[in-house]
Amino acid sequence: MIETRNITKFFSAVNADGSADGITAVLSVSLSIPDGRFVSLLGPSGCGKSTFLEILAGLQAPTEGEVWINGRQVLEPLPASRREMEAYRRKYRFLSPIANSLFRDKPKHDIAMIFQDYAVFPWMTAMQNVLFTLKLRGVPRRDRPGLARHYLARVGLGGAESKYPSQLSGGMRQRLAIARALSVEPSIILMDEPFAAVDTQTRERLQEDLLELWQGTGKTVVLVTHDLDEAVYLSDEIIVFSPLPGTVRNRIPVDVPRPRRRDDPVLREVRERIAAIYRYDQEHADLDGGI
Ligand SMILES: Nc1ncnc2c1ncn2[C@@H]1O[C@H](COP(=O)(O)OP(=O)(O)O)[C@@H](O)[C@H]1O
Ligand SMILES: [Mg+2]
Repeated sequence: MIETRNITKFFSAVNADGSADGITAVLSVSLSIPDGRFVSLLGPSGCGKSTFLEILAGLQAPTEGEVWINGRQVLEPLPASRREMEAYRRKYRFLSPIANSLFRDKPKHDIAMIFQDYAVFPWMTAMQNVLFTLKLRGVPRRDRPGLARHYLARVGLGGAESKYPSQLSGGMRQRLAIARALSVEPSIILMDEPFAAVDTQTRERLQEDLLELWQGTGKTVVLVTHDLDEAVYLSDEIIVFSPLPGTVRNRIPVDVPRPRRRDDPVLREVRERIAAIYRYDQEHADLDGGI
């Protein structure tokens, strides 16, 4: 169970004239996400989705509020300073500090994060990318090659083990990122617009792969997206964020059994309902602007 209690994130800034400024990116978000669910966070660009997801992962500390995962509080990022944090993210972009803490002494939460921009090491082959995670996880050396092959095969990269990321297509690179996330054996997978950078056909294929990998595993998936169709097709529940500051605008269950058809009339209804919410907000914002 993932639980957030009144998560608020404020970013301070300074204007050109030296006056203080700031922006509330996330405002008082309280959510609970049961284990094994596929949940999407849907909202327009810039509404605080990534910020919220990074707070869930422990990559950023909230200004206010708490995140609890399976009864344990997700605390501030492990690196102490901003510079440390940046160095950390450059090195371990694909994992949250919390996921990494699993590889150190005390296991805390097992979370893997997948980003939009294929966070894989370009100087390592597909095989080496997965081997590296297994090493971090503490898997004995002799077991690593077999396991790495297993994870690569699961995402359909069985024949690409010795390829470098630059030799793979965008869709294949993202599958490699997924294989690496799976090799962490996390119970929670957080994804930030993972399919935004690929063409429509590849995106649909990757969505199918993701569903297939997720089904029957009991893993919780939290997917951030601004793509209405993606959210509707994939999710058990859609959490609609309002425009900035991000708050929970609506929670919409999608009670359609799988496998689903993309043109399922119930899915289309859900889609229309969310589109209507956005239209309403848009008109409302225009009115506000006009006054
Ligand atoms: N480190 C930061 N410092 C200042 N402002 C930020 C920072 N990160 C995000 N923001 C601002 O917070 C808002 C929400 O950003 P983000 O969470 O990336 O939105 P989304 O993922 O929904 O597109 C944006 O207005 C963005 O400019
Ligand atoms: Mg974002």
